Amino acid sequence: MDEKIIILDFGSQTTQLIGRRVRELNTYCEIVPYNKFPHGDNTVKGVILSGSPYSVNDKEAFQVDLSQIRSKFPVLAIGYGAQLIAQLEGANVDHTDAREYGKGQLSVSEKDDLFENLQKTPTVWMSQGDKISNLPTHFKPIASTADAEVAAYRIEGESTWGLQFHPEVLDSEGGTELLSNFLNICECKRDWTPASFVKSTLKNLKQELGNDKVILALSGGVDSSVVAVLLHQAIGENLTCVFVDHGLLRKNEFENVLTDYEHLGLNVIGVDAKERFYKELKGVVDPEQKRKIIGKGFIDVFDKEAHKLKDIKWLAQGTIYPDIIESISVTGAVIKSHHNVGGLPEKMNLKLCEPLSLLFKDEVRKIGLELGMKPHLIERHPFPGPGLGIRILGDITPEKVRIAQEADHIYISNLRSAGLYNKVWQAGAILLPVQSVGVTDDERTYENTVALRAVTSVDALTADWSRLPHEFLAKVSNEIILNVKGVNRVVYDISSKPPATIEWE
Ligand code: XMP
Repeated sequence: MDEKIIILDFGSQTTQLIGRRVRELNTYCEIVPYNKFPHGDNTVKGVILSGSPYSVNDKEAFQVDLSQIRSKFPVLAIGYGAQLIAQLEGANVDHTDAREYGKGQLSVSEKDDLFENLQKTPTVWMSQGDKISNLPTHFKPIASTADAEVAAYRIEGESTWGLQFHPEVLDSEGGTELLSNFLNICECKRDWTPASFVKSTLKNLKQELGNDKVILALSGGVDSSVVAVLLHQAIGENLTCVFVDHGLLRKNEFENVLTDYEHLGLNVIGVDAKERFYKELKGVVDPEQKRKIIGKGFIDVFDKEAHKLKDIKWLAQGTIYPDIIESISVTGAVIKSHHNVGGLPEKMNLKLCEPLSLLFKDEVRKIGLELGMKPHLIERHPFPGPGLGIRILGDITPEKVRIAQEADHIYISNLRSAGLYNKVWQAGAILLPVQSVGVTDDERTYENTVALRAVTSVDALTADWSRLPHEFLAKVSNEIILNVKGVNRVVYDISSKPPATIEWE
């Protein structure tokens, strides 16, 4: 990467969104904690400051000296960043009662490069509870709203702007143009594309790995599959992939995915370890214990396979950018720990190769397509490592796995044929440890209940339940009850995350 934008993260929920928008504008960017600016990196072309859950007046508020950065680079400060700069320069930043959340109408008062091609009164997404006033004389207010006298300012004599609204949020009219204007001000070449990423990554991987041998745990998911294809193109036969069947995959998944991988020319070892997992999971009810057993079993099986191979030096993983950003969260609130084959690197004493670690999920998909992968491999819903193990509530038996697989298969096939599969982020059937009364052919039944879950989400940190059409749900319910022996009731999960999670365990 010969040029980049640095996004200083003050902990806002929209920091990742800023990153994605900048990348969508074909410019590479990195998100770093607010106090970790990479001084000395001569590829930096500009800096964006994010918002924050804090107010600059809070005791815990993040403080940092920005003068050096401001003197060297164009700076776009959003929300908290804008308030911080203003306060450090002597402006007042006060709490207001009229907390401006949601939409506001901006009135652009000054002609400015940042507002080039924007209309004069765009509707923008405000999120600031604090008001900036009493600006020092070298600050020029350039836009306002009904409640915020200073909705945007520019510091005269330097390329520093402060915004009290969020251009990264799609609801902000002209937000993309504004970010694009900022990138022009930074003189970015705008040549970051999937093709350029593939080209430079292949070159780097060839250089870094040389003739070394690499092992990769495939999961059937998008990230590890894209890593596999990327590495295969870089080092060919020196990559060995291991795909473990823990008996908790979707119906026919092991065979189908293995065939897909073989068609891609990958060197894959498929390991059928079902029996071992079923044995170890027998009678175990506690969700965390189930996760631990599955995780540890996976590492053991994988490690055993790795030891059969000679001279392996590297372990490749499908870690992606949100995993990394979450683990360095500046507010310390780690919401989701990153689950990519946890524990493997420590155990195996191998060097780590994570070629997607700077990409967002949608970018990984674009890279996959660029590498020539079939859309059906790329568009797959995320599927948790412990698989059906955390979708069969309570203890796991091969019979319960069969029921969960059949129900899930009917559900997912119908989502595909109804054209709904790509409209939801993730979907699956959950087998509940609940039996209830039903009636079939005039006979009383006392059988299992299946819950259907489908969510829309951007990053799985929050999610809403998908409003699937009633007719569709009726069809799936009928098919499951008619065809899956052992199920007489189907329910639909209408919980959002938070407070519920996507998975039931
Ligand atoms: P939750 O249930 O926390 O899930 O809302 C968020 C996302 O993470 C996936 N998930 C997991 N993935 N191992 C994984 O590899 C796990 O233990 C695990 N738990 C949840 C889940 O499917 C969703 O995409």
